[in-house]
Amino acid sequence: MTTIDKRKTDHILLTEKAQFGASLADSRFYYEPLLGSHQTNTSLELNFLGKKMQNPLWISSMTGGTGQARHINRNLANAANEFGLGMGLGSCRPLLESDEYFNDFNLRPILGKDLPFFANLGIVQIDELLINGMVSKLIDVLGRLDVDGLIIHLNPMQELFQPEGDFLPRPSLEVIQDFLEIYKGKIIVKEVGQGMGPESLKLLMKMPISAIEFGALGGTNFSKLEMLRDKENVKTGFGPLSFVGHSALEMVGFVNSILENEKDILCREFIISGGVKDFLDGHFLLSQINANAVYGQARSFLTYANEDYEKLKYYCKQQIDGLKMANQFLRVRS
Ligand SMILES: Cc1cc2nc3c(=O)[nH]c(=O)nc-3n(C[C@H](O)[C@H](O)[C@H](O)COP(=O)(O)O)c2cc1C
Repeated sequence: MTTIDKRKTDHILLTEKAQFGASLADSRFYYEPLLGSHQTNTSLELNFLGKKMQNPLWISSMTGGTGQARHINRNLANAANEFGLGMGLGSCRPLLESDEYFNDFNLRPILGKDLPFFANLGIVQIDELLINGMVSKLIDVLGRLDVDGLIIHLNPMQELFQPEGDFLPRPSLEVIQDFLEIYKGKIIVKEVGQGMGPESLKLLMKMPISAIEFGALGGTNFSKLEMLRDKENVKTGFGPLSFVGHSALEMVGFVNSILENEKDILCREFIISGGVKDFLDGHFLLSQINANAVYGQARSFLTYANEDYEKLKYYCKQQIDGLKMANQFLRVRS
């Protein structure tokens, strides 16, 4: 049977199974088959955080300091390098204790000089460094990692649900304000999967920080994850609080409204992350925000980075080509 014969036979055999209800259509877009082509040699290059990225994708902060972390991080850094993506490290807390896991985090040699690459630390650890007068220790680690700056993660709900979680003695706002007095490098502030409401966003956008990463609700939920870890049910009584938070789309709305209505905005770059499933979500969210932005993913990258590099590479290539096809054939509905 020739290829054409085979195809024609497949078409007849599979027609019954290929029925698709119109109610399943993705109503975010107009599909314009007349307007695009399959060319993928178009550029998605953009300037972000003072550097040039080839594609508007960010590898959100994940891991370091455990068995598989080195393999995962090296795969992620290779993907960032090959596809021109930005990358945030997972919490660098282990490096404040010792250099045992330094190589898990030492990814600049793989990423190269030209892409944005940020370290990461939780708000409670930042406060501890401030209280103990040890910020210089962190600055030393950042220098040795040759990062562009630091991502501070806000995770009050995660800490609350974590069986061995840390106590947050004062509002994160005060901690960041104090830290900004000492640290003059670039700072990104993010949540870890529950997002942020308009008041927190407004206050952050008026601070001299470089970007905000959403870490929105809708994907990996660390309240839920910590509850799954809590075998003794020490913290599960907080259960209802795991449902609070804001989706990435809702946060885009908050940001646009703040940009429109507020003066004295200092932070105008955003990483839209948290529950961004694929390039089509990313394409849609980027089209909605009235600011310079990229979209970030954690879980989706992790699925492939945990395996071998070829699988991660294939995933990245498809996502980027998908983004280009979305640009070619879709128009976002107003
Ligand atoms: C395994 C794993 C580890 C994570 N560790 C960190 C971390 O150390 N620091 C941080 O800021 N966020 C961390 N996150 C949160 C992610 O950066 C991201 O905000 C969150 O997973 C939501 O994105 P997603 O829905 O694409 O997974 C982690 C996420 C995962 C899946």
